[in-house]
Formats: sequence, structure tokens, C-alpha cells
Amino acid sequence: MTASVIYAGWMFPPLSTFVPNRLCCTHCTTFVKPPNFRPFGQQKSAPLTTSCLSDKALTTAASDHNYGNKQVISLTPRIYDYLLANVREPPILRELREETATMRGSQMQVSPDQAQLLAMLVQILGAKRCIEVGVYTGYSSLAVALVLPDSGILVACERDKNSLEVAKKYYDRAGVSHKVDARHGLAEDTLNSMIENGEGCSYDFAFVDAEKRMYQEYFELLLKLVRPGGVIVIDNVLWHGKVADPLVDDEKTKSIRSFNRALMDDVRVSISMVPVGDGMTICRKR
Ligand SMILES: C[S@@+](CC[C@H](N)C(=O)[O-])C[C@H]1O[C@@H](n2cnc3c(N)ncnc32)[C@H](O)[C@@H]1O
Repeated sequence: MTASVIYAGWMFPPLSTFVPNRLCCTHCTTFVKPPNFRPFGQQKSAPLTTSCLSDKALTTAASDHNYGNKQVISLTPRIYDYLLANVREPPILRELREETATMRGSQMQVSPDQAQLLAMLVQILGAKRCIEVGVYTGYSSLAVALVLPDSGILVACERDKNSLEVAKKYYDRAGVSHKVDARHGLAEDTLNSMIENGEGCSYDFAFVDAEKRMYQEYFELLLKLVRPGGVIVIDNVLWHGKVADPLVDDEKTKSIRSFNRALMDDVRVSISMVPVGDGMTICRKR
């Protein structure tokens, strides 16, 4: 039994600080030299070069024999502003984003471009049954619920009662409450109970955005719940770029690294790692 997975990662707001930190030349206004700063050009194992354009945009050229001269753009605040200006954000999502901005932990919310991608994946898939692990105040879950058909359902798992109450208020206001089954508690318990209830292979789509050290466990549970041909999206797989920094070895980073490594070898799914937000992996169950 196999599925697809999308890994997604947050680069906003970390993008505006992280990318220039690592790639930018010193006259960029956002440059802040971290303690372990080492430009890519000085790393023997990374045959990358960077250039700074007039608007402080950066391109990275991978010029070794594996990648040819492919140029990759690195988002700057200006480019990211442009990208956001081209996101169609429904007014109710904007209101939720603005209310969340006043709350503790607001940096955890997915960015509008990420939410738009999630909603489009759900639409492309024609998904009717979805799961979200890590709801917070509901931005990503509301984006998904808005595009689900009236008969669709999103099981929204969140351990924090207060943030889930905000999410529920917005499901109501958006008129999508009938499509959201909000479950307060540990997601692993909820997912296990769904499996015990015989709901295996009955979901089309899942999005994971919760405790990083639990990714492997969430993934194994979701593999049981998502049908063949379904999609699992996992956020934060680039973890503010820390996964690529050999000098970073905190538990969360090590855990995401090891999850990414395991997914590379996991023949149950086809995968695509996407540098949106903090990085996402999209897995399609086979
Ligand atoms: C990054 S935030 C989710 C952001 C959300 N997707 C959005 O767009 O606003 C992570 C959330 O996962 C929740 N969480 C962490 N571990 C959890 C667990 N084991 N079970 C349920 N929720 C959990 C946290 O309380 C937090 O609200």
C-alpha cells in the first residue's frame, strides 16, 4: 500500500531572515551574521555560487556536474512581497490572519501562499476526506475547508483548547463548520482511534504541521488512514534551513533530518520536497 507525500517548509517569516543570513552579501539590509555563519562558497562540499542583483535578489547557481548551471532564485523580502501580492486570499482568511497576528505563537501560522497551495492540492485531488495534524488558530484548516465540497469532511487535530476555539469561531463565521470535525487532544491519540474505528484507507488528503519530533509517528499513522493515490503534506521539512547546516544538531533538527532521510528510501510513497514556506514534502501514496 503506498501514497504520496508533499513536504512543505516554512520560509515565512523565517525566509526573510534566514535566506539572506546564509546567502546574502554584506550590504543587504537584512543581513545578520549568525554565530556559525559560513557562506556556501566557502563550503568545500557545496559547489554553489551566489550573486546579488540590484534589488538584493539572490540567485544560486549549482554548477557542478550533477546539476549543470541551473540557477535557483532565493527569496528576498521584496520578492516575497511580490509573491504575496499575487496570492488570492479570501477575506475570511485575511481576518483570521490579522486576529492571529495579535496572539502568542502567531509565527506558527502557515503563510497565505502555503495555504493557497494546500487548497489547490485538495482541489486537484478532488479530496472529500481530509485530516490536519496541528490546527493552531485554523488558517490552513480553514483554507482547506473552504474548498472542500459540502459533503466533505476535515478532521482537525489540535491539543491546545484555546487556539482551537479561535479556529472554531472562524469555521462558523466562514459557514464551513459542518465540514470540520475539530478534535481536541493529542493528534496521535485521535489518529489511533480513527484507525481502530475502521477508517483506514478512507482519507484522500492529510496535512502535518505539529510536533517535529513526532513526524515519523504521524506519518506512519497517516499512511494507514490515507488511501492509495492520496496525498500527505508535511510542513517544515527544511526547518528554517537548519537541516542543511551540519553545525546544527538540536533534537528537532536531527529528527526532521532523519525523517527526510527515511522518506527518501520509503518505497510506499512518491515524494516531492518543495521550498515553500519552511519547506514542504508532498507524498503521494501509491
Ligand atoms: C505550527 S502550529 C499549526 C499552524 C496551523 N497549521 C496554521 O496554519 O495556523 C502547530 C500546532 O500543533 C499543535 N500540536 C503540537 N503537537 C501536537 C500534538 N501532539 N497533537 C495535537 N496538536 C499538537 C500545537 O498546539 C500548535 O497549535
